[in-house]
Amino acid sequence: MANAFDMVLFGGGGDLSLRKLIPALYRAFIEGGLNSDTRFFPVVRRQEEADSYTKTAQHALKTHLRDGEYNEKSWKEFSTMLRAVALDISKPDDQWNLLIDLLGDDTSRTRLFYLAIPPAVFGPCCENLSIKGLIHENSRVVVEKPLGYNAKTSDEINSKIAEYFPEESIFRIDHYLGKETVQNLLALRFSNVLFERLWDAKTIDHIQISISETVGLEGRAGFYDDTGAMRDMVQNHLLQLLCLITMESPNSMSARNIRSEKIKVLEALRPLVGKDVDKNIVRGQYVAGGLGKELVPGYLEELKAPNSTTETFVAIRAHIDNWRWTGVPFYLRTGKRMEKRCAEIVIQYQKVSHSVYQPEAGDVLPNRLVIRLQPEESIKLVLMAKKMDSLTMELQPVELNLTLSDTYDSFKSDAYKRLMLDAAANNSALFIHREEVAAAWAWVDPIIDHWRDTNNLPQLYRAGTWGPQASNQLLAENGHHWFNP
Ligand code: BG6
Repeated sequence: MANAFDMVLFGGGGDLSLRKLIPALYRAFIEGGLNSDTRFFPVVRRQEEADSYTKTAQHALKTHLRDGEYNEKSWKEFSTMLRAVALDISKPDDQWNLLIDLLGDDTSRTRLFYLAIPPAVFGPCCENLSIKGLIHENSRVVVEKPLGYNAKTSDEINSKIAEYFPEESIFRIDHYLGKETVQNLLALRFSNVLFERLWDAKTIDHIQISISETVGLEGRAGFYDDTGAMRDMVQNHLLQLLCLITMESPNSMSARNIRSEKIKVLEALRPLVGKDVDKNIVRGQYVAGGLGKELVPGYLEELKAPNSTTETFVAIRAHIDNWRWTGVPFYLRTGKRMEKRCAEIVIQYQKVSHSVYQPEAGDVLPNRLVIRLQPEESIKLVLMAKKMDSLTMELQPVELNLTLSDTYDSFKSDAYKRLMLDAAANNSALFIHREEVAAAWAWVDPIIDHWRDTNNLPQLYRAGTWGPQASNQLLAENGHHWFNP
């Protein structure tokens, strides 16, 4: 159980807080992960919002928790930890006094400032925290993307926060790193000799990392249209997964060791500039189509802006130029309104060097390790075996299956719960260092610049499919194909 701490949740009435953060805190509470002396101070703009916050939070829990998680008794106890405060974070006026009083002056108590607010107000918010004397030696700030729009703006935001908090007190969230299977990925890689030895260009043919979503704009039209899939998903989640899959073994699981290995990967990513962008990346945008039984509108109709060229889909062929990975293609893909919601990493091994069987035995298919992050969490190893009831030698693929969510009855993984408890415990291993953010932008920026400079138009794909046809061709050029779930 974490020591008691205080969390000030700026943007307490916003979408992120109500959909993810408050439910995650409640989960931590019902699972016994919170000391009863822990306190949460959601910050909202208006007094009426503060007055009705308990009701708002209760409604959010009922709406967003999984079946069976909400119960009145726990809610009553949990709600005593919540105390909403109304203030305008951009003005250092007397409105802050209530928060100052509530927090008190015990500097040994951990204080987390969660900035669930637009990055444009990170600076004023941190500045006012400092003016009001609220930052002490046990204070940490938690921020989440979008941390800028490109390397330059991201650096400006990071520099602004750094005026008030040292790097070790800044916790940058990538919620993918809080997912249980993502952490298991490290366990798999670094505690199994099997994979330690079979994890390089000599044995692996290629790797696919795919995050497909069925949702569209989800009421975030303005934000999304300025952002696009490359900034929204690739710069952070996909590159982070790529780093964890390909990095060298860190000397230890310390934040510093993990980070330095991840940065090496980002720096070894072969830059895609100019014509290489067109050759190696497919950019798409969805048009109306059928998702299950539902007919959904296209991106432009949803957005109500007929001329947007923002991408809702990206497929990339990337290479990591180092000894371990030379020559191995990495295919990264993400998109909105795709056929299924799934996040999966597929490691495709090479074929055996020589088949000793007669052609009648069938093809000797290469092994495949499939790590699924969602909707369910599983790890599957596809091996070749003899068909059991066959008198002749017939080969067939069989699966070694580890469905983690079946194995653990009480498996209630929640990335935000994990990350907030880690931040409270000052464990920064699953958070992103400023240098990682910069290295990721350094790879992504030239791609986006090229699209802008060449007025690149996204290729259209029907909602409810696996993206534009060109995404299949990208892999076919190397004799590969997507393993769609
Ligand atoms: C967010 C993106 O970071 O991740 C969203 O901004 C996306 O556009 C979301 O929908 C996906 O997260 P998850 O955990 O649902 O796969």
